[in-house]
Formats: sequence, structure tokens, C-alpha cells
Amino acid sequence: MAREPRYRSLKGFRDLLPEQTGRWHRVEEAIRRVTGRYGFGEIRLPIAESTELFARGIGEATDVVGKEMYTFEDRSDPPVSITLRPELTAGAARAWIEHDVGKNEPLSRWYYLGPAFRYEQPQAGRYRQFTTFGVELIGSDRPEADVEVIALGNDLLGELGIERYRLEINSLGMPAERLRFREALVAFLEERREALSEESRRRIVSNPLRVLDSKEEADLEATAGAPEILSFLEEESRAHFERVATLLADAGVPFTVNPRLVRGLDYYTRTVFEFVGEDLGAQSALGGGGRYDGLIGEVGGKPTPATGFGFGVDRLVIALEAAAAAEESGEGVDLYLVGLDDEARRWVVRTAARLRGEGYRVLTDLQGRSMKAQMREANRRNARYAVIVGGNELAEQTAQVREMASSEQSSVPFADLSTWLRSGLS
Ligand code: HAM
Repeated sequence: MAREPRYRSLKGFRDLLPEQTGRWHRVEEAIRRVTGRYGFGEIRLPIAESTELFARGIGEATDVVGKEMYTFEDRSDPPVSITLRPELTAGAARAWIEHDVGKNEPLSRWYYLGPAFRYEQPQAGRYRQFTTFGVELIGSDRPEADVEVIALGNDLLGELGIERYRLEINSLGMPAERLRFREALVAFLEERREALSEESRRRIVSNPLRVLDSKEEADLEATAGAPEILSFLEEESRAHFERVATLLADAGVPFTVNPRLVRGLDYYTRTVFEFVGEDLGAQSALGGGGRYDGLIGEVGGKPTPATGFGFGVDRLVIALEAAAAAEESGEGVDLYLVGLDDEARRWVVRTAARLRGEGYRVLTDLQGRSMKAQMREANRRNARYAVIVGGNELAEQTAQVREMASSEQSSVPFADLSTWLRSGLS
């Protein structure tokens, strides 16, 4: 019986063991390749910021600020309220202002990869510490900028071989348009108050747009004929939205318009979008984002238009698994050297050192196990070849090399091993 561990990781916080991190590396490498193609540079931001920044930037009425932040006072006198970042856009805006980046470059192309924290109910695909990859394109109000970041996100999914997803887009208009929509929506919801779920009834006042986001059967039914934001857009916002749609089509990025897409953060203006995975169950948003022309002004900078997105890397990893695209190409080893007795084990130690020096990925037995156990281990670790050496092989200076997939076995003189492997493994 395994002993009950005295300490466990916190609820919603996970360890990733080596058999999992291989897939993470694949995602991270794809992120670096794709952002490189678009000329985005990496920023690294602090994990905590002042609570005030998030409250102002993301919005007091959002779930993220109202219910999900890890907020605490530090030990200064008087104490300062700090919050573990629930997302990285507010911090990016803060850094952009603080370093006066706009003075030196008219347009900033930034990306980031790192942990974020939200106190949510954990379930598959939803954690309290999760990893986000995001991009922020700061300094352009043009539809081309929206399309640039959407295309980047789309390329990332392509690069990872994730195919079962759809891209949904919508426009939330500018604040005045949204305000008029909000009034119409509240009037509509008030009329159907009784039919709504309890949560949605509460939201009529605090955050009515989020009612459109509800997955509750009752809410879906009650809001079937709800007003749509798109019909509240005026000329400029409408033209912007149409241009985004045209350019997405030009860029060959398939999308659908979802007039109910509202997103959970308050800073969005005009374009919003989400990449929705089809194999992810309830937590289906692989990534999402949009334009936020008001945020930088809101947190104290010179008003500057910007657009960006965030992906949940945890969810990308799940989608990779589901897509079975995760052929563990990088995760196996080239060779497992099997020594049958003490003399052969000396050969194994020498040869492992030499072959690793030549760049091969080599595993050996470190527990004095039988040949059968070593072969089983070679199999489990996805070794391409097992190289088997006992007394006879030492006498003849020849190894038995078994290709694990086919079980085909060859005798290879020790002196020829490197050459033989080079041709086999290239
Ligand atoms: P968000 O939609 O709140 O946007 O989060 C982005 C992505 O992070 C989600 O689509 C989801 O994949 C992932 N995510 C969020 N919460 C969790 C969680 N508890 N567990 C696992 N994954 C999660 C933002 O955060 C914006 N800052 C995106 C953005 C950047 N907009 C403009 N620029």
C-alpha cells in the first residue's frame, strides 16, 4: 500500500512530470517559431501587480476581479494590496506605459508565456494556476492589426496540428454603442427575469452582457431572441468589423460570426474573437482576445489603440492529446544499452558515455535488472534500438542490436556501432 502523502499540491495547482513536459516543450517551441515569423518579441512580466491595476484595467464587475483574484496585503507599512496576475494584458499595458515604449516605437509587437492565477472551480482544462501564451500588438487601430493577431493564433493551431476548432468573431463596438446595447439588453432581460437562472438574474444589474455567455439551458431558451450588439454599431465600428471579416477571408482564415460572443473582461472595444476547441468539453475556449483601445488610457497612459489574445497552454496540450497529434517524436530515446553481466555493464557504461558524446539519447539500466526487465524498460521508454551485450558478445566484440518496432535483430561489431547507428537513425 502506498503511503498517504503528508502534503499535496494545492487544489487547482499541478505538477507536470517529465512524461508530460515533452508535450509542453512542443507547444512552447511552436509558439517561438510562429511568433518569430510575425516578428513578435518576448516580454517577461512580474507574476504580481498592484491590485488596483487589475481592478481598473479588467473591470470591477467582471468575475475575474470580483471573485477570482488571489489578493493579499504584503508586509509593508502601510501594507500594499497585491494580486497574483489573473491575466497578462493589464501588466503588459502597465509595462508599456512605464517604459515609455511608445516614444521609441510607433508599434509594439509583444508576446509572453507564463503562469496566471484565478480562483476558479477546478475541472478538466480549468486550473487555479494555468499557463497563458499571449500577444499584444500596441499602437494600431486598424483592422489589419486585428487580423494579424488572429492569423498568428490560427497559425499556431496549424503548427501544432490541432484541427478540430472553430474561430468565432464579434464586435462589441465602442463604449457609447455598447452602452446603448446594454440598455436594450437589460430591458429585454428584465421582461424575462423569471425564466432566467439565478446567476443570470444577478447579472442583469452587474454585468448583463455575460448573460449571453451562459451555458444554462434556461438562459439559452430565455435569451433566444435577445437584441444583438451588431445592430447597435454605428458606421465606423461596422466598417471596422466588415473589414476584419474581409481581411480574414483574404488571409485564408476561416471564421464564423457569433453575435453572442462577449468575453469576460471589460476592456474590449470593437473586435473580439475566440478559438473554440471541439474536443475540450465544457472548457472549450482554447484562446480568445480582441481589441482594447481604451485600456492604456484607463490605466494612466496616453490613449493608445491595441489588440491581442491569450491562449491557455494547458488547453493546447489537452487538444494536442485529443488530436492524437502528439506522436511522441521527441520523447523516446535512441538507444537502450542492455548489459547482461558485470563485465558487459562496464562496456555499457563506457559505450553510453561515448554515444552520448556523439549526441545520441541513451538509457541504461541502473538497478541491476534482468535482461527481460531491461527490454521491457527499453520498450516502455520508446527506445528505437536495444543494444544487447553479454559474455558471448564481449568475446566476439559484437553487439546484438534490436530494432524495437520490428523486433528485427542484427549483429553489429562494436567498432562499427557508431556508423551503423548513424545510418539507422538518420
Ligand atoms: P481570457 O479569455 O480570460 O483572456 O483567457 C485566455 C485563455 O486562457 C482562455 O481562452 C483559456 O484558454 C485560458 N484560461 C483562462 N482561465 C483559465 C483557467 N482557469 N484554467 C486554464 N486555462 C484558462 C485573457 O486573459 C486576455 N488577457 C486575452 C487578451 C490578450 N486579450 C487581449 N489581449
